Amino acid sequence: MTSTSSYSYLHKSPQDVLNDIDFQLTLEPALLTKLTKAFLEEINVGLGRYGEDMAMVPSFVTGVPDGSEVGTFLALDLGGTNLRVCEVVLNGDKTFRLRQQKYKVSDQLKTGEATVLFDYLADSVDAFLTTHPPESPTSPISDVPDVLPLGLTFSFPVEQTALGSGTILTWTKGFSAKNAIGNDVVKLLQDAFDRKHMHVKCVALVNDTVGALLSRAYTSGGCMLGAIFGTGTNGAYLEEVAKIPKLANNPAATKGGYMVVNTEWGAFNNKRTHLPSTPFDSALDRTSINPRFQAFEKFISGMYLGEITRHILLSLIDAAPRPMLFGGKATKVVNDQWGLDTSVMSEVEEAWEMRVTVDPTVAKDLDGVGNINEIGAEPRSFPGEIGENLLWDGDDHDILPRWDILSTPEGLASLNPKVKEKLERVRKVLVNRLEYADGDVELRDAAIVRWTCHLVARRAALLSGVAVAAILLQTGRATFIQDGQNGQTVPSTTEEPTSKKVNGANGTHDVNGLSKVTGTIKDGLEEKIGVGVDGSLIQFYPHFERTMRESLRSIVGSDAESRVEIGLAKDGSGVGAALCALQALKQGF
Ligand code: GLC
Repeated sequence: MTSTSSYSYLHKSPQDVLNDIDFQLTLEPALLTKLTKAFLEEINVGLGRYGEDMAMVPSFVTGVPDGSEVGTFLALDLGGTNLRVCEVVLNGDKTFRLRQQKYKVSDQLKTGEATVLFDYLADSVDAFLTTHPPESPTSPISDVPDVLPLGLTFSFPVEQTALGSGTILTWTKGFSAKNAIGNDVVKLLQDAFDRKHMHVKCVALVNDTVGALLSRAYTSGGCMLGAIFGTGTNGAYLEEVAKIPKLANNPAATKGGYMVVNTEWGAFNNKRTHLPSTPFDSALDRTSINPRFQAFEKFISGMYLGEITRHILLSLIDAAPRPMLFGGKATKVVNDQWGLDTSVMSEVEEAWEMRVTVDPTVAKDLDGVGNINEIGAEPRSFPGEIGENLLWDGDDHDILPRWDILSTPEGLASLNPKVKEKLERVRKVLVNRLEYADGDVELRDAAIVRWTCHLVARRAALLSGVAVAAILLQTGRATFIQDGQNGQTVPSTTEEPTSKKVNGANGTHDVNGLSKVTGTIKDGLEEKIGVGVDGSLIQFYPHFERTMRESLRSIVGSDAESRVEIGLAKDGSGVGAALCALQALKQGF
């Protein structure tokens, strides 16, 4: 599908057009705080009632692992571009072994009949078992020893009714398979296994965020939030059962303690009353498969950032009375809906930064994933403050392009050579990835596209910080910067006395084999806060974590932010599903 733009830039100078876009996509700290307050409200509305936009799904996982868990399980992971089948061996010493196979999920499968999709899942498990016969004996299901237990990671909104069952609420991330919504996802999968007479039993259902939380806790000994910043975005955290009023009639409520809650924060502010929507966001939403849903996710996640950027670029290509980009030419990549992948943005920013590596482990270090106390981002310049001579003096400020300088030979000649080199690298990426002829892309185009990518990604990372800050506030681990002194004084009034257990680290085992939470709210204001993350944006997008931390600092202060230990939830979906399968077996599935 192709789409056209309809933004009127008449009666504006090119510089004013750029200033306007910059203004619309720039988020000030006061707005971040306001959004966090609205986020907290939605969290509590969702904890109180079923059927709210932010679903706040109780996962029935009532503890977090401490690394001592043992067992071998099959795991199936459906949630994004690929489907993964794995065998996970939990060694019981915070380590695990994993063998996996990825299978492509075509658009046809995503949007066709649900039974066809679930048959494909079963076929994939079958194929995996043929090519990877179990190495170690899998953990037996007590009454059916020859049946292999499987944990399903299903990364879509599901109203979970128990550890091993849940109703699909809606599809997200480009899926729309028919006759699935309202059905139990575990049953859909089990029926497919049974149709094929496979000796596999799905015993547990887990969201990828819950998986990230559990797997990070397993490998690091403690974690309170699992978050995904990839194709979609979402988070799951440990909540006090007493703060989940909608569980009132459930036996889980009487037990008290803690439960992992899958927030489904991608649906925050679906009404868009607070989110800083621009015409580009509206264009994306209107033409998406799920208009008016997943509003927050559409500002943040990898599925959408490229498309927002594409809309901005198109508006400049089509600008009247004179095109402002690529001489008014558009390629198929920029014309086609979803044509511009978020990975192009990442490449553009890497080219600007002269970062050559794509090795995930190195990228991880460069991004500071796993490091705390990283030096913050440079303060952002305001459009009006950009001085003539400050234009790209060689550092990485996200500076608004100066049309006059970039549009004349003298202006270009006056650029710092290092900046020119960076722009030339970006230009090459554009020729290559947007499929332009070499002569169609000028240095000015490179500057504009790089700035656009940076604006869109920076906004996403700042908003991601809002979600993380809201969880810190909700669980009493931080206060708003304006309420306390730098986010570390008195707990907020919603908190209970200091005997409250809040942290998954150093816990003791509960009956389910996962550790009970220990620590206190008061301790919570001093201790490290474990956050397990996964997803391509947080792992590979330049400075995503750094900008997210900048956002956190502006909302809850630097003390709270510096206690946040962000670590990769390696193979979170597989390991998380295995840990849940273990819990299910211990509960006597
Ligand atoms: C979407 C899904 C959610 C998932 C997230 C990350 O937001 O609705 O369940 O956790 O993507 O994959």
